[in-house]
Amino acid sequence: MRRTLLLIALFFSVSLHAQKFDGLALTPPMGWNSWNKIGCEVNEGVIRAAADAMVASGMQAAGYRYIVIDDCWHGQRDGDGFIQADPVHFPSGMKALADYVHARGLKFGIYSDAGWTTCAGRPGSRGYEYQDALQYSRWGVDYLKYDWCATGDLNAREAYTTMREALRKAGRPVVFSLCEWGNHQPWLWAKEVGHLWRTTGDIAVIFDGVVDHGSWKSWGVMQILDMQEGLRVHAGPDHWNDPDMMEVGNGMSVAEDRAHFSMWCMLAAPLMAGNDLGAMTPETREILTNAEAIAVDQDALGIQGLKYLALDSLEVWFKPLVDGEWAVCFLNRSKLPRKVAFDWKSHQVRDDFSGRAIDFSASQWKIRDLWAHREIGTTRKPFTAVIPSHDVRMLRLLPVKK
Ligand code: GLA
Repeated sequence: MRRTLLLIALFFSVSLHAQKFDGLALTPPMGWNSWNKIGCEVNEGVIRAAADAMVASGMQAAGYRYIVIDDCWHGQRDGDGFIQADPVHFPSGMKALADYVHARGLKFGIYSDAGWTTCAGRPGSRGYEYQDALQYSRWGVDYLKYDWCATGDLNAREAYTTMREALRKAGRPVVFSLCEWGNHQPWLWAKEVGHLWRTTGDIAVIFDGVVDHGSWKSWGVMQILDMQEGLRVHAGPDHWNDPDMMEVGNGMSVAEDRAHFSMWCMLAAPLMAGNDLGAMTPETREILTNAEAIAVDQDALGIQGLKYLALDSLEVWFKPLVDGEWAVCFLNRSKLPRKVAFDWKSHQVRDDFSGRAIDFSASQWKIRDLWAHREIGTTRKPFTAVIPSHDVRMLRLLPVKK
């Protein structure tokens, strides 16, 4: 008995110092981040407006929670080394801003970097991790995105672990979002360190292509999708692959935005909007708040979808859901519309990772169209459709009880 108690005590004392805050991201985090649209032009008015618009637009009701200020909020450190917000753009200070966000029933996120400076050249957290974590906790920060610029020869795992320990020590529960672009395969070690980790470099507002910035590249939605190959086995509740924040509403076509959003839901990706929430078109709003698509992303099983088939530019993805259901997404990557005739009965889907399988010749499923919001028959007949260029048909399969 005494030995058992000793072991339990040992377990808790070890885990107190060696774990992230468990259970903060049992489903992929949903929110908004300033970077994709605003970049370095961020200020407290922009953040307050985003919080207001999150509520007024119905995004909060759809499940979005976090308002995250990305790079460029920083001023200098004070004489004791504590980081301060830029007094020109954040004159009311971070605590007041966090209070404003919290008062709307939302959560407050901030950004820093494991190196000497952030990617935009602001003070990084290197050497100040415990002080920064303490400051964030005093401000009321609930989410930290932690970048990887200016890190020299730092060891990624150690650097991110130091910040995890610092957050833990500061005591306020914080979702820890690792942003080292997949350079050091965080999916192999970050499960114990953070709640989500970027798997790639930065996304661009482009569906299919690469933007060359000289010393670095940013990636189209399809390029990022392809870079997720093989990573699904590393994700699950409280530890997610992050294919980057969304570009929905930032300039792609409605079809491309819909395809981007659908694929992020199929990937069980964190859903961080990156557009101007106060100036959304009805189409953008409809995409970002589609409850049926969001339910696929937020499914409690937390199983990332799998690419079942790729036929030229047509891909068919499956994602196991709770209650034996599945999501299916037909993605047309081509520049032309594409005819689909998918005869379910000749397909068998096996997912060794989740242990789930479907043999469509032996079982029947009702089909619900998640963008048209209606039932469209069963798997007895082939699914036929013309999918416009860069668009999707996203479906939910519900078992027909015999
Ligand atoms: C890196 C990150 C981006 C963004 C910028 C800010 O590029 O990957 O998501 O945070 O830095 O400078």
